[in-house]
Amino acid sequence: MLSNKSIVLGVCGGIAAYKSCELTSRLKKLNANIDVIMTKSAAEFVTPLTFQSLSLNQVVTDMFDKPKYWEIEHISLAKKADIIVIAPATANVIGKLANGIADDMLTTTVMASKAIKLIAPAMNTNMYENELVQKNIETLKQLGYQFIEPGEGRLACGDIGKGKMAEPELIEEKIKDLLLKQRDLEGKTVIVTAGPTREALDPVRFITNHSTGKMGFAIAEKAAARGAKVYLVSGPSNLPTPCGVERADVESALDMYDAVMALMEKADIIIKSAAVADYRPAEISSEKIKKSDGELVIKLQKNPDILQELGKVKGSRVLIGFAMETQNLIENAKAKVAKKNLDFIVANDLRTEGAGFAGDTNVVKIIDRSGNVEEIPLMRKSDLADIVLDKAISVCK
Ligand code: C5P
Repeated sequence: MLSNKSIVLGVCGGIAAYKSCELTSRLKKLNANIDVIMTKSAAEFVTPLTFQSLSLNQVVTDMFDKPKYWEIEHISLAKKADIIVIAPATANVIGKLANGIADDMLTTTVMASKAIKLIAPAMNTNMYENELVQKNIETLKQLGYQFIEPGEGRLACGDIGKGKMAEPELIEEKIKDLLLKQRDLEGKTVIVTAGPTREALDPVRFITNHSTGKMGFAIAEKAAARGAKVYLVSGPSNLPTPCGVERADVESALDMYDAVMALMEKADIIIKSAAVADYRPAEISSEKIKKSDGELVIKLQKNPDILQELGKVKGSRVLIGFAMETQNLIENAKAKVAKKNLDFIVANDLRTEGAGFAGDTNVVKIIDRSGNVEEIPLMRKSDLADIVLDKAISVCK
C-alpha cells in the first residue's frame, strides 16, 4: 500500500500516454495520492479528464492558463511529492531536464523538487539511441535520477526496436521499491558477479555459456536501491548498468578473478551469480586456427574457482554462491556450500520450468551452512533478488 504517499505523475506527449492511465489506476488502488501534470502535447493524446477521473484530482496542464493559481501549484506539488514519475518521458523533456530548462509546468515542478525522480522514456528507436538523448540520460543518471528502461518490440511508428515505455506493472514495482524499501543496506558494500565468461581459443572464437546476466544485474539493482555501494563485475552482457551501480566489464574467468580479488577487501557481502567457465583452452592461438581434414582436439586447462578462493579468505564477509544443476540438485549444492565455505547457495535446476538462464523468472532452493533447504517458488528474478538480499542481511547480523 502507498497510503500517505504523494506521487506526481508527469505525462509527456507520446502514444504511450494511454499506458499511464493504467499506471494511474494501479497507483490509486494502492491508495496513493496522485497529481497528474500533462505537457501540452500529452493533452493531444489523452484528455486531462481521463487522468482527472482516474486520479480523482485536478489535472495540471499549462502553467500560464491561470497564472496565480499555477504559480503556487508548481511549488506546492514540488514540495508535496514523495516521488515524481515521468511516464512517458519524451526526448524533449529529458533534454530539457538534463540542461536545466524549465519552461512548462512539468519541467518547472521537477526542477523545484527534492523528491525522488523516476523517468520512463518512450520514443522511436533511433531517437532513443541518438547520442544526445543518451548523453542527457547519462547526465540525469549521474545526478541521481532513476530510469526504467524502455522495452523492445514493435513501436507505434511501425519500427521494431527499443523504445516502448516499460509496462505499468514494472513502473508500479519500481515506484514501490523506491518509496517503500528500507535503506537496509546503507553503509554496506556489495560485490555482485554476473553473466558468462568467454574463454578464447584464437582471435576469432571462444567457449562460453548461455548466461545473460539477468539474475546478477537484478541483485545489483536491488542492492543499490536498498542503499548499498555496489560493484558489479560482469562478463559480456547487453544489459544496461543499473542506476547507482559501479560496473567492471570482464571477458574471461581469469579477468573476473583479478577484478573480484582486487575489490574483495572492500566488501561486506559477495554474491557470485556469474556462470564462470570451469575450463579454458590450455593455449590461445595467436592466429585463427585453420580448418584441416582430421579432427581437432582442444586441450582444456582448469580455471581458478573464484568462489572457492574467496571462501578461503572470506573472514566475516557474507559469501553467497549460485549453482545450476541438471541432477542431484540438493546434494551437489550442499557439497558446494561446505567445499567453498559459503554462507548459503542459491541452487536451480536448469530443467525446471521457469528456471534457468535467459528468462525473467527463476525457481530456486536456498541451502545454508546448517543444511537447511528453503524452497522458493517460481518468481521474477527481481523479486528473488530481494529475497537473496534479505537473507544476506540476516547473516550479516
Ligand atoms: O561449482 P560450480 O561451478 O557449480 O559453482 C557455481 C558457483 O561457483 C557460482 O557461484 C559461480 O559464480 C562460482 N564459480 C566461480 N569460479 C569458477 C566456477 C564457478 O566463482 N571457476
